[in-house]
Amino acid sequence: MTKKTTILQVGHPLLRQQATVVTDVHNPEMQQLIDDLLATMQVASGVGIAAPQVGQPWQVVIVASRPSARYPHAPVMEPLALINPCIVAHDDQQIKDWEGCLSVAGRRGLVPRYRMVEVDYLDRQGNPHRQVFTDFVARIVQHECDHLEGRVFLDRVESYRDLITESAYQQLIQATAAPVT
Ligand code: NI
Repeated sequence: MTKKTTILQVGHPLLRQQATVVTDVHNPEMQQLIDDLLATMQVASGVGIAAPQVGQPWQVVIVASRPSARYPHAPVMEPLALINPCIVAHDDQQIKDWEGCLSVAGRRGLVPRYRMVEVDYLDRQGNPHRQVFTDFVARIVQHECDHLEGRVFLDRVESYRDLITESAYQQLIQATAAPVT
């Protein structure tokens, strides 16, 4: 059974802790945590979530790009659980783009991220992977991996001028959106 879990907001100390390596992916409580994260993220229309956001101190994140009201231009992918993710390589190019966070309600920020990252992780069956992620999905991966180190996107915004409200962001994307055909 999955249950919707409360998402912690910035200011909660658990969002600032270093997450712990998962040693037993097959533990039923760990599998339940993954299901809870998936359900919580979907209810909140997120494109990613990390275990510390629901108060769990484990190195578990979900990456699940798809178009939504929050991210209308996101590419579609199957939700992917990454356990003990580690960024082992990245390109030199950092690109600034808008990010939000389920733990930072009502704000958006321009955040510099690498366009490409290579990540070692375990899937929810415990199989090891080394995978390259690019563009928006690479941005999600970097954002979620930051959560595992107690970091939120606000820490990476270079100027207060790069921080806006959700409603200002919605006006911005409506102004730049391609016409619907
Ligand atoms: Ni976040």
